[in-house]
Amino acid sequence: MTKTIFEIEELITNRIKEIQNMVADDPYRLHYHLMPQIGLLNDPNGFAYFNGCYHIFYQWNPFETKHGIKYWGHYISEDLVHWKEAPIALAPDQWYDMNGCYSGSAVVHQGKLYLFYTGNVMDDEENRESYQCMAVSEDGIDFHKKGPIIHVPEGYTAHFRDPKVFYKENQWYMVVGAQTTEEKGEVVLYTSPDLENWTFHGALAGSGHNGLGDFGYMWECPDLFKLDNQDILIICPQGLVPRGYELNNIFHAGYLAGKVDYDNVSFQHGPFTELDRGFDFYAPQTMIDSKGRRLLVGWMGNAEEGESIHPTTRYEWIHTLTLPRQLEWEEGKLMQYPVEELQGLRENKIEYADVPLNGDKISLPNIQGNVLELEITIKSGDWKSFTTTIGENKEISYDKSTQTFSFQRLNLADNHTFEKRYCVLDELRSIRLYKDTSSIEIFINGGEEVFSARVFDYTDDQEIHFYADRNLTMNVKKWDLKK
Ligand code: FRU
Repeated sequence: MTKTIFEIEELITNRIKEIQNMVADDPYRLHYHLMPQIGLLNDPNGFAYFNGCYHIFYQWNPFETKHGIKYWGHYISEDLVHWKEAPIALAPDQWYDMNGCYSGSAVVHQGKLYLFYTGNVMDDEENRESYQCMAVSEDGIDFHKKGPIIHVPEGYTAHFRDPKVFYKENQWYMVVGAQTTEEKGEVVLYTSPDLENWTFHGALAGSGHNGLGDFGYMWECPDLFKLDNQDILIICPQGLVPRGYELNNIFHAGYLAGKVDYDNVSFQHGPFTELDRGFDFYAPQTMIDSKGRRLLVGWMGNAEEGESIHPTTRYEWIHTLTLPRQLEWEEGKLMQYPVEELQGLRENKIEYADVPLNGDKISLPNIQGNVLELEITIKSGDWKSFTTTIGENKEISYDKSTQTFSFQRLNLADNHTFEKRYCVLDELRSIRLYKDTSSIEIFINGGEEVFSARVFDYTDDQEIHFYADRNLTMNVKKWDLKK
């Protein structure tokens, strides 16, 4: 018999009580990122601004450090920096979601917070069913399920999920990640006058559409919004193959930019661009806040790969969300800036101006640490290559002759070889990085490219070194970041 939400909450509360001290002992627990109290976290869900607070929900398996039956965990914040854990928002306790309340989104309507999510159902032979479901809350804490509002349409498999709802010109829209019966990834569009009755309009974009060629067997976690007159469709295609410096993770999160024709349900767009060039980034979600900013949070993880090799599983937890980023469309590119509220975490500023590098590896007094923000501004010089090393085995480099930026970490699978991710950059002007015990997020040239990764050190090396092959002058600032 399925358990009630109260019985489930009791089980989870007891498990938290039982193991929370052990989890807290993990030196890899993060200081200023959103993690699960216990168990596994994956996608951010329902990112919204409601009654003066930011709400972010997340895919949560509280009972294991692997994927399984998912709940919606819930965090609330007034400033995007200090978050409070709220009670579980959705538990898999109904016939239509009993194998997981999968990803989805939230909107505010007539003073209520509406959640849209995918009810995942599997039988003993692993036959899947999926339902797009709705739940409503008056206070943003307790949610009442209204059940399925959309069933899988003809021509699609049960890999049909992750509804993202938004309002535009007097009606509601929903994009859903889908797989056709021919096993092609697509994003489909629905409209509704009232959030309850939805009309299917077919594919807005997909593998084989619009010059994309063969582009994956499933598209997960879509998001669609306008930014400075560009329509941006975020997608997470599965089944793409690596291409040079691109698409090197198991699954990919990126965007298509162009113009959506809502009347004719079509999208003229350019090529797919990855949102993050690091090892760990997937299933991002955006929202627009009361200041009119388009904000994005992603999962600092990636499906399947590496899960069992994260050392945090020994302490019964795994994964984190990224820091919130503000999106802007500038000169044909999506720029991503860490939100300004993060400056509120800063303390103990150390600053050096006009530091010369000239063929020697140097460190600077007090520029070191395990939890910090570092800003490097490159001013001038006839240098060709520049490298910063951060603690044990983490290396950031830029090579002018190949215009290649790279980030290297210790290979999580064997702990002694290295692995790298790259991107091509016209020039390197600045690096801003956020290090938080076992994570790093690197913003290049403001927000032109971002690398996010989990990093697990095995020694207490907190040194930072700088090197340029020839003359280079830089400014360096460092802050410790508060818990
Ligand atoms: C993406 C994803 C979603 C799904 C959820 C389940 O990471 O696979 O498509 O809704 O995770 O946790």
